[in-house]
This record gives sequence, structure tokens and C-alpha cells, in this order.
Amino acid sequence: MQPIPLTPESRVLVLTGAGISAESGVPTFRASNGLWEGNAVEEVASPEGFARDPLLVWRFYSQRRAGLEGVLPNRGHAALAALEERLGDRFLLVTQNVDGLHAAAGSQRVIELHGNIMQSRCTGCDRPPFEDRQAYRPGGVPDIVFLAIGTSGLVFPAAGLVDSVRAQRGRTWLINADAAANASRFDHVELGAAGELLPTLLATA
Ligand code: OAD
Repeated sequence: MQPIPLTPESRVLVLTGAGISAESGVPTFRASNGLWEGNAVEEVASPEGFARDPLLVWRFYSQRRAGLEGVLPNRGHAALAALEERLGDRFLLVTQNVDGLHAAAGSQRVIELHGNIMQSRCTGCDRPPFEDRQAYRPGGVPDIVFLAIGTSGLVFPAAGLVDSVRAQRGRTWLINADAAANASRFDHVELGAAGELLPTLLATA
């Protein structure tokens, strides 16, 4: 096998997929017959799949996040980083991989076509993508507890937060002097002065 001939004028575009990370121990998508826990990968790695079953998709990516712990780039990643060293701006790497291993190997001119697994983006608001390394435990979701304190429940969007939390199976408390307009949507309503109730409600066991 001969080295690929490159001249000082050559411009190089590289496309990578899961196979380049296989030797780092990252499972490819089409391994295991393209199935994850019996689901086709397209079911768990697509916006449509996320719309259908967000919890399933979170579990899939959580498992992949956890699987990336301690994973290092391999000689393939390193060879591409070295090529970029030689070519500079005449090199561009487009990757479908979300594992960040090209950057870890030193590649800088990288376009992550499918994003990065350590970043999350909210589908419900305009917040820019943010770093998020949390791996949800198998079968578990975070125990979300929501406290609304001293608020009438009349002004949106704040008044609708309780519904968003309940949609995530969170537990909700209203602590207010009187029954707020949205009181019926809380799991627990504690009527009284916040300054009196909170020390008891938040006392450590
Ligand atoms: P696939 O899992 O579909 O394909 C990986 C390819 O790498 C296969 O053709 C393997 O034969 C090859 N391969 C495996 N080990 C290799 C090695 N050590 N050296 C060279 N080749 C090797 O992965 P992708 O094509 O990246 O999308 O999958 C495309 C997209 O499908 C993913 O980015 C993902 C999924 O839906 C999203 O997550 C949005």
C-alpha cells in the first residue's frame, strides 16, 4: 500500500464515521445488527425517535456517555491530527461522530455533523447548546423536586413551570400564603408564611 500522494497544493477533506473510533472501544452503530436493546438505532438516534420517546433516547445516550469514560483516541485519530499539522487550512475534517475523539487527538478543523455527545440542546427553548456530561443511571431518571414559593401562579411562563416539571415526573410543592391560581397542579400545597414553613420543609433528616 502506497501513501496517498499529496502536493503542496492538495486540499484534503476527510469524512469519518463510527468505524474510526471502533479501535478506541466505542461501539459502532451498525454493530449488534444496528440494534440497541432491541430498538433500531434510527429509533434512538434521531429527532423523530426523541419526539416519540425522549426517555428511551436519554437512556441510549446516557449509556454511550458513560461508555466514553476513559476512552482515548487511537492511531487513526492521531494520523489525521498529524495530517492537519502538515496541511493547516488546506485540511478539513467532517465527522459524524459525537465522541470528541478527533479533538482529543489534537484535530482543530473539525465539523461535528451530528453534534457532540457531551453537549445538550433544549428542544423547547432558544438556549444555546451547553456542556452536559450527565449519564442517567439505567432505569433511573433524576429525582426532580420543584418548589414554588410565594408566587400567585398567574403570570406565565413562570406559572407553567409546574407542568413542565410534572411532565418529567418531578415532585412539586407550592409554599404560599394562599392557594395560588395554579395550586391544583402541585402534588403538595403548604399554606402559610414562607419564612415559617421553609425551615421545617427544608430541615435535614
Ligand atoms: P456505522 O456504525 O453505521 O458504520 C461504521 C462503519 O465502520 C461500518 O461500515 C464498519 O464496517 C466500519 N468499521 C468498523 N470498525 C472499523 C475500523 N476499525 N476501521 C475502519 N472501519 C471500521 O457508523 P456511521 O456510518 O458513523 O447518527 O453511522 C452514521 C450515523 O448513524 C451515526 O453518526 C449515527 C447513526 O444514526 C447519529 O447519531 C445522528
